[in-house]
Amino acid sequence: MLSVVDRLIVELDQGVRTILGVHASERPKPGRDLPEADLDDVSRRHAAGLMRVNHCGEVCAQALYQGQALASQDDRLKRKLRSAAREEEDHLAWTGSRIEELGGRTSLLNPLWYVGSLAIGFAAGKAGDAWNLGFLKETERQVERHLEGHLGRLEPDDARTRAIVAQMKADEAGHAQMAARLGARELPFPVKRAMAAVAKVMTTLSYRV
Ligand SMILES: [Fe+2]
Ligand SMILES: [Fe+2]
Repeated sequence: MLSVVDRLIVELDQGVRTILGVHASERPKPGRDLPEADLDDVSRRHAAGLMRVNHCGEVCAQALYQGQALASQDDRLKRKLRSAAREEEDHLAWTGSRIEELGGRTSLLNPLWYVGSLAIGFAAGKAGDAWNLGFLKETERQVERHLEGHLGRLEPDDARTRAIVAQMKADEAGHAQMAARLGARELPFPVKRAMAAVAKVMTTLSYRV
């Protein structure tokens, strides 16, 4: 059993590693054996920009899960949240590594989004488990649709990037199903719309900055 101080150190360590991008993936990177496509500069920069958006999204996912797990009172739910967060760490490592391969960089705004997402996740956790899970399910559904959009915007022959996005999309769908199984409550439509609006700001900014 961890003391409060131990717990705080673990959480802080997690936060610092997320912001600095110090993450190792547990699963091998999808598409690592596929050949590199012969992309022109514009396509390469575009792919790096999209992966920067996805990397920023994964920074947010880490913070949301962390905040939600911290606020939840239910040990079983906490464990589920932490195990999903572990899969999100793979996403963080994969997107970070692909950005490097494409010659890009991660978003400068990541620390800002991390702190904001931690607060939102904590608030969702404090709203009770059914709403917490409802928030999680809706987030994952929106991310899944967003990744589907990226598959349409990436070059058809950029197989290495596409393999990562496709695996992430499948994982996010699994996280949404997990939340539904655990008793997620359907969020009111205005809340869903507000979440989509915040996500739009994040994706637009992180594509550029
Ligand atoms: Fe993810
Ligand atoms: Fe997810």
